[in-house]
Amino acid sequence: MSKTKAAIAGLGFIGPAHIEALRRLTDVEVVGISDFNAEIAQTKAAQLGIEKYYDNFEAMLKDDSIACVHICTPNYLHAQQAKAALLAGKHVVCEKPLATSLKDAEEIVELAEKSGLINAVHFNLRYYPLVRQMKTMREKGELGDLYSVIGSYLQDWLFYQTDYNWRLEPAQSGDSRAIADIGSHLLDMIEYITGRKIVAVMADFNTVHKNRLKPLKPIETYSGKMLQAEDYAEVPINTEDFASVLLRFDNGATGCATVSQVSAGRKNRATLEISGSKETYNWCSETPNEMWIGRRDGYNQSLMRDPSLVHAEARSLISFPGGHNEGFPDTSKQLFKEVYAAIRHGKPATPTYPTFAEGYHELIVCERIVESARAQKWVTI
Ligand SMILES: NC(=O)c1ccc[n+]([C@@H]2O[C@H](COP(=O)([O-])OP(=O)(O)OC[C@H]3O[C@@H](n4cnc5c(N)ncnc54)[C@H](O)[C@@H]3O)[C@@H](O)[C@H]2O)c1
Repeated sequence: MSKTKAAIAGLGFIGPAHIEALRRLTDVEVVGISDFNAEIAQTKAAQLGIEKYYDNFEAMLKDDSIACVHICTPNYLHAQQAKAALLAGKHVVCEKPLATSLKDAEEIVELAEKSGLINAVHFNLRYYPLVRQMKTMREKGELGDLYSVIGSYLQDWLFYQTDYNWRLEPAQSGDSRAIADIGSHLLDMIEYITGRKIVAVMADFNTVHKNRLKPLKPIETYSGKMLQAEDYAEVPINTEDFASVLLRFDNGATGCATVSQVSAGRKNRATLEISGSKETYNWCSETPNEMWIGRRDGYNQSLMRDPSLVHAEARSLISFPGGHNEGFPDTSKQLFKEVYAAIRHGKPATPTYPTFAEGYHELIVCERIVESARAQKWVTI
């Protein structure tokens, strides 16, 4: 069987996670990687056993054997690299957020549609099997009419004033941080599961650390050493550490979403509580193999991720029996499985994977949230 050839741009945290997930698919081969940092590209190529490495994204696109390019670079590069890849005739899997401006996102959605190439955004949290189970239960009428949603996504990796990353710089990350970085996943899951569109938002932001201490040299160069005061520069921060957003949905249901990157002890915790006229569902990404089903009249239930217990739609995302836990790395594998099936066999009439159009929609929601926080009023979408 000939394998579909893939290449990855950006080799920090998530790029290697894409590579690992792709390698678990039998019909895909990762043949090239690129990073603007030549040393990173070379070191990662050796570590990951990949022959071709580039310090230039455009040079990688010249390899005709590559069918699909994964964009795992900082946010400000997504739209320009997606555009270049599409123009080179490559299918594209792009990290979220799809772009840092609506104009750029619109352009690549249009280009992707015209090209007929497969385009996907890595909203991988949708691919926890129990997230799809909640969506399927709602589609089958088990939830009833949507009443309310309570969602949160909490992390602590930017808790200290000395925590620093490119995401703190709007030129690289965009005008929003916590909302764009983790709120985008949360809001995508909420709309995906409920099947409802968010039509209005009222947001309140807080920047806990108004100034942060930026290391003056790449952090790796200090490994194993204590930083001294002179190793830092104090820089003002103008994106949110914490955000609360009230939500209104297209059926009149309401809800709220909270995101934080400064909640000590919360490593990477997305929680959802979705209530309908028949049941309530509760699920947390730190215990993703179980969900709670609440009922007014009768027993509440705890459902374990087990292929024999879930709907067929969720079963298709499960590779191991019940009790053999699956987690974050499995979500990307399952997403890529659907994307590469579309590359091999043709675009389905209704793609099951998140498309650029959906990435664009989520970007609009996030932009309106930023607008609402600035104006301190409700904004319609
Ligand atoms: N879906 C998820 O769960 C998830 C998780 C983490 C990150 N992400 C997204 O992935 C992207 C990357 O995040 P990360 O945490 O891996 O960041 P990172 O800083 O760890 O890695 C980014 C990499 O991109 C490289 N890079 C910078 N400019 C480049 C260029 N012009 N060409 C090629 N490479 C370049 C950097 O050298 C670095 O190796 C972000 O957009 C982020 O939102 C998604």
